[in-house]
Amino acid sequence: VKPTPLQLVVGKGGVGKSTVTAALAISSVRAGRRVLAVELGAPGGLARLFGCTPEEPGAAVEVRPGLSLAYIDGEAALAEYLDLVVPIRRLLAAVLASRVYRYFVAAAPGLKELMTVGKLWYEQQLEDGQGRRVWDTIVVDAGASGHSLQYLMMPTTAAETFRSGLVHREARRVESLLKDESVTSVHVVATPEDMPLAEAAQIVERLRGDLALPLGELFINRCRARSPEGVARALTDLEGLVLPAGAAGDGDGCEVVREGIVVAARRALSWEGIQERGIERLERDLGVTPVRLPLIVAEEFGRAEIDEIAACMGAHREAGRA
Ligand SMILES: Nc1ncnc2c1ncn2[C@@H]1O[C@H](COP(=O)(O)OP(=O)(O)OP(=O)(O)O)[C@@H](O)[C@H]1O
Ligand SMILES: [Mg+2]
Repeated sequence: VKPTPLQLVVGKGGVGKSTVTAALAISSVRAGRRVLAVELGAPGGLARLFGCTPEEPGAAVEVRPGLSLAYIDGEAALAEYLDLVVPIRRLLAAVLASRVYRYFVAAAPGLKELMTVGKLWYEQQLEDGQGRRVWDTIVVDAGASGHSLQYLMMPTTAAETFRSGLVHREARRVESLLKDESVTSVHVVATPEDMPLAEAAQIVERLRGDLALPLGELFINRCRARSPEGVARALTDLEGLVLPAGAAGDGDGCEVVREGIVVAARRALSWEGIQERGIERLERDLGVTPVRLPLIVAEEFGRAEIDEIAACMGAHREAGRA
C-alpha cells in the first residue's frame, strides 16, 4: 500500500470499508506514522471498531498511541470555515442562526460534501508550532460508494459551477490535492462474489474516467483460503476408498464421516471457484492485481481481527518491496 498522506476508502455497503480503513490506520501506525482515521457524516463503523465515539464533529480523539479518530460533518465544517472567514463573532452567530442560512445549507446541492472534503484538506495541511504536519497519514472511511463518489467529485463540480471568486478558488485548491497522486489514493473494497466485484470494477472505472482520481489498492475482503495442491485428486481417492466394516459390522460410522468430509470439501471448492474466477476476470478487465484480505471467522469482529487484517497489509507491503 503506497503510503500517501491522504487515503480514502470507498466501496459498496457492507463490503468492509470500515474494517479496511481501521486496518490501514493500524498498519500506518505500525510503520511509525501519526495517523488520523476519519469517518464522513456521523460516527459509525470506525467508532464501533475502536470502541470510541468523538464527542463533536471535527474533534480528534486518540484511540491508541499514534492513532486518532474523528468524524466530519459537512454542516459543522461549513460553520467552522465561516468562523475563519467571517471575522466578527456576533455577525457569524447571526448568520448561522438565520433562516436564510439554514435554507441555503439545506438547498445548495453538494455544499456539505464540498465542505467535508475541504475539512479533509484543512486537516491534511494542518501544522504544529514547528511547521511540521500534525498528521502523516489521514485515512478516510468514505461510506457507501454512491455517496462517497459524490463527495469526491464535489470540488471539481463546484469549481466548474462557480467560474470565479472564493468558492472557485477554494474548490480548485481542494481538487488539486485530491487529484495529486503523491498526496491522495482512493482504495476500493469488494468481496469476492460476482456482484460486489462488478460494482468495484465500476468504481475503478469511474475513478479512472470522469472522476480522474488516483487509484490506490483494490482490496478483496473476506477471501477464503485457497485449497492445498492436489485436493481434487484426494477427494476422488476418498470417494473411491473401500471402507472397513464398523463395530456394528455395517461400516455406517465411517460412511457418515466420509460423506461429511466430501460434502464440506466440495462446497469449499465451489466457493473457491467462484472467488478465483471472479478475481481473475477482474484482474483481466482492469489490469490491476488486487490485495486479498482473509475471511476471518470470529463471533465478534474486534481489535484482534483488525490487527490480523492490518498484518496482511503489512505483509503485502513487504512483498511489494521485495
Ligand atoms: N475479513 C473479514 N472477515 C470476516 N468478517 C468481516 C471481514 N471484514 C468485515 N467483516 C464483517 O463484515 C461486516 C461489515 O464490515 P464493515 O462494517 O467493515 O463494512 P462497511 O463496508 O464499512 O459497511 P457499511 O457500508 O455498513 O459502512 C462487519 O460485521 C464486519 O465485522
Ligand atoms: Mg462502515
